[in-house]
Amino acid sequence: MTSIQEKIIALKHKKNALILAHFYQTMDIQEIADHVGDSFELARRAQTATQPVIVLCGVRFMAESAKILNPTKTVLLPAADAGCAMADMITPEDVKRLRAEHPDAAVMCYVNSSAGVKAECDICCTSSSAVQIAKSLQEQRIIFVPDQNLGAYVASQVPEKEFIFFHGFCPIHHQVKPRDVMEAKNAHPEALVLVHPECTIDVLEMADFVGSTAAILDYVQNSPKNEFIIGTEMGIVERIKQTIPQKSVYLLSTKMVCYDMKKTRIEDVLKCLEQDIHEIDLPEAEMKGAYKSLERMVSVR
Ligand code: 13P
Ligand code: SF4
Repeated sequence: MTSIQEKIIALKHKKNALILAHFYQTMDIQEIADHVGDSFELARRAQTATQPVIVLCGVRFMAESAKILNPTKTVLLPAADAGCAMADMITPEDVKRLRAEHPDAAVMCYVNSSAGVKAECDICCTSSSAVQIAKSLQEQRIIFVPDQNLGAYVASQVPEKEFIFFHGFCPIHHQVKPRDVMEAKNAHPEALVLVHPECTIDVLEMADFVGSTAAILDYVQNSPKNEFIIGTEMGIVERIKQTIPQKSVYLLSTKMVCYDMKKTRIEDVLKCLEQDIHEIDLPEAEMKGAYKSLERMVSVR
């Protein structure tokens, strides 16, 4: 453990803080976290946290979700400018317009969105819960925002319902092409291809498995196979190399780096704990509206 990691651990105990980290964070941050998980797991851990301070090592929508689900806690985001390009593609007005155009449809919102957008929706989902949540809705028609790719994947798994999509996407996953999959398969013919549902449907169709970051990790852990091509952000490859070293993993494309996720440095975690800075503060009305959508998501599981 480095001296900066030791300082963070000491301060975490002194301040009674809970440190949560997403799998896309760098390994030095994952190592000092109390829990590392996918978006769903981080939301659930934040909701049940008893500590007065939660440090969310990830991007803004994750820290906002933590605050909304457990509003009496102080939630700190170590890199204040760590956003999500997909979340920034949609506004609350876009949701209002879609709802007005399709008044009979339920509005389902990927958790990669702002609190203001969540407040205009009926229910949130993560990549690990989206199919189950779409099936659980009574409505026959579903407006799915903002990710067109996750939306298309959910629609393919829930053919009995009709979907209306928004045109958002994750630039990191959306840029991967079937050609990248072909090249990776040619380089590693024995490897299985595991991809995140934020990739486009033509890439998903070439995969052996589609799942959230946590589901991809579980798949590698439990598979009898030894070689895998990983189609999501590079943090997962780092995690697998460290925690399941007996398996061989290859990143599907070297382009799969989320610069927002990588904005958090270990020094930022220490600084925000030392100085109590970058606290999440949201308008009351947004908090209330978004709580309904997020709480409904967590209770479906
Ligand atoms: P997971 O919920 O699968 O961890 O995904 C979060 C994310 O932002 C993927 O780009
Ligand atoms: Fe957002 Fe994409 Fe980064 Fe995930 S990988 S946080 S969806 S920009």
